[in-house]
Amino acid sequence: MVEALATSPQTKKYLVHFIKKFKLIDFCLPEFESLATLFIPGALGSWAPGRPQPCIETLRRNLYCQPRDTINIAKHPLVYANLPEDAGVIDRIIKRSILVKEVVDVISEAKTYDSLLQSVDKEKLFPILESGKSFKFNIEGIGRKISHKEQVEIIESFGIFPFSKNVDLKNPEIIFKIIENSEDHVIYFGTEVASNRVEEDTFHYKFDLKKRPYLGPTSTDHQLAFLMANQGQVSLGDFVYDPFVGTGSIVLACQYFNAFCFGGDLDIRVLKGYGVGRKTHNKVEGLEKIKKFDIYTNFYHYKMPVPEFFIMDCSNPAVHAQASNLRQPVFDSIVCDPPYGVRARSQKVGVSETKKKRQERKAAEKMEASEEEEVQDDDHDMPHFSMKEHYDVLKVYDDLLENASKILRPGGRLVFLFHTDTSLPAEKNKFPTHPAFEFICSSENNLTKCRARHLITMIKRVEE
Ligand SMILES: C[S@@+](CC[C@H](N)C(=O)[O-])C[C@H]1O[C@@H](n2cnc3c(N)ncnc32)[C@H](O)[C@@H]1O
Repeated sequence: MVEALATSPQTKKYLVHFIKKFKLIDFCLPEFESLATLFIPGALGSWAPGRPQPCIETLRRNLYCQPRDTINIAKHPLVYANLPEDAGVIDRIIKRSILVKEVVDVISEAKTYDSLLQSVDKEKLFPILESGKSFKFNIEGIGRKISHKEQVEIIESFGIFPFSKNVDLKNPEIIFKIIENSEDHVIYFGTEVASNRVEEDTFHYKFDLKKRPYLGPTSTDHQLAFLMANQGQVSLGDFVYDPFVGTGSIVLACQYFNAFCFGGDLDIRVLKGYGVGRKTHNKVEGLEKIKKFDIYTNFYHYKMPVPEFFIMDCSNPAVHAQASNLRQPVFDSIVCDPPYGVRARSQKVGVSETKKKRQERKAAEKMEASEEEEVQDDDHDMPHFSMKEHYDVLKVYDDLLENASKILRPGGRLVFLFHTDTSLPAEKNKFPTHPAFEFICSSENNLTKCRARHLITMIKRVEE
């Protein structure tokens, strides 16, 4: 069944052009694979939630026209892939993708413009020309800017085209695309099947942090949040949970894809807008009319349904404590950015070291005081719960995976960010694992010379 993806008459070789965003280069293929699995029927063969494990390697073998480990997006953001000959499916992938720029049906590929024309697939090109459809040319250089003058010369060299009759620059039925990759000097000519044109026109543009009324010190960047939702394959009606919700960037993205979202956080201040979360200083339309700034503000601003939020401690989460009472695990995906220790400190409910020491000192003082002497118990001496106790970052991940194993449905996706620091001992940088989860992929985003964050995707195993 899986092999059918590559050989079935319904699939065809298309050129997938990825957006070359330096920070997110490593996210391109995982996102594309995740969306391909979501939208291409049978992409994972006979696998369906509740059946034994999907084989991601088989998907990759069938999806790409070259071995996946030979693809280098940084050098060559153009990859041939076997996709269904269904513009609707391709369109769905593109419209939801952050990093796929366009899909092109290639008519010829060559090292020079002369041979590009000579090697056109006539069976593909002539029916298009004879159709009388309106068209325009779009020329793009990767690694080199192609001047307007050069573009005109290139277009004019395509003399067989009916330029006098069918050109429509505004609303063409067909866009002929020429992409010149200066890295390997290969030029592609074909028709555009679907594209994510201008940044301002993308669905995620308005969610840019600079356009939000409410932010916190660690609000997840909008593109990363949408990439995470795509890795989680978040879809209409899914139950999605973010146990480290903060200002809600990730649930905002998941809610955009029409999921039912739930978010928990230890810190009431970030949810309520008490100092940690704050009104943005950006120029946001309608900002002056907003009276209250808290985690709900952005959802109201974007006119989106508001998720369920609650205060909880990931080390002892109420939603998980009840998991054994669930008839079945409820969540389709868990998507989150756990505290990583630098700006987002990892803490849990408890008593801080300083406070513990003070309490011990007071207790010792009381013991020393004479029995007759009445010692006033003041409230501040009572152990009281604060949110200052240190919580080892790796333990945060252990708890996250353990809790996720109880509340995520089999086949559900766990997507999270994990930080590494090469100046620390190797065991601190090992990706967390859990017997209930199958590792699917990770994407690396370098932050400094030694620090990086990794977007990790896992699938909850299905018992055979
Ligand atoms: C990296 S931030 C998440 C940012 C969030 N995605 C956003 O867009 O604002 C990590 C969050 O974890 C919360 N946190 C820290 N320790 C926690 C714990 N033990 N349980 C639950 N949340 C915790 C912090 O308050 C912080 O809001």
